[in-house]
Amino acid sequence: MFGRIAHRYDLLNRVLSLGCDVSWRRAVSQRVAAARPALVLDVCTGTGDLALAIGDGLVVGADFCLPMLDLAKKKIADRGRRLPLCAADALHLPFSDGSADVVTVAFGARNFSDLGAGLAELARALRPGGLLLVLEFSRPRGPLAPILGWWARNVPPRIGRMMSGDSEAYSYLPASVSTFADSAEMCRNLTAAGLDHVRARPMTGGVVTLYEGVRP
Ligand SMILES: C[S@@+](CC[C@H](N)C(=O)[O-])C[C@H]1O[C@@H](n2cnc3c(N)ncnc32)[C@H](O)[C@@H]1O
Repeated sequence: MFGRIAHRYDLLNRVLSLGCDVSWRRAVSQRVAAARPALVLDVCTGTGDLALAIGDGLVVGADFCLPMLDLAKKKIADRGRRLPLCAADALHLPFSDGSADVVTVAFGARNFSDLGAGLAELARALRPGGLLLVLEFSRPRGPLAPILGWWARNVPPRIGRMMSGDSEAYSYLPASVSTFADSAEMCRNLTAAGLDHVRARPMTGGVVTLYEGVRP
């Protein structure tokens, strides 16, 4: 599915989020910078936008979808950036235990075939004291929740179908958000994956949440 929509992925992200996706990834990259890591692993890197926001010489991007990685590779080269990429399944990472200071995953965890196993694998790749950051869609709260919910259910399938020619993929988006773990459940999952200091920071009225946890 990600291979089919890869060619329109970045454009649709900007359109469907009204440009907010850029600031969401910037918030993650700022949190990464505050941890002053030497090595960051960006899992489910897709077309590389979060890895690019984090910075060169610091981050390895990994994804199991080759068309996404091809676009990431082209984007990195076009911008004269230096950033290694690797084809890898998030549930079976080709990295030894404790190899990264920070592991990030943006809009990827929702797609894991087994969320608990995926989070445990990300935690495994962290060194003790290392930070896991998970940016994921969540269910909006507050006065704008009905409007944001309506947007999520109705706009992505229609615009996604028009712009990518793939209605299935963009119907999957609201469907997967509505069935994905809510904030409290996600925090419990992170704790179950062995992480401490688990926190959830909602952004844009809860449209997305940045979760974090530290490997003891
Ligand atoms: C919605 S995109 C997010 C891409 C990028 N992180 C971003 O912020 O735009 C989800 C990505 O996760 C990848 N993905 C999903 N499950 C994966 C898994 N088990 N292992 C590796 N990549 C996975 C997909 O191939 C896709 O590129």
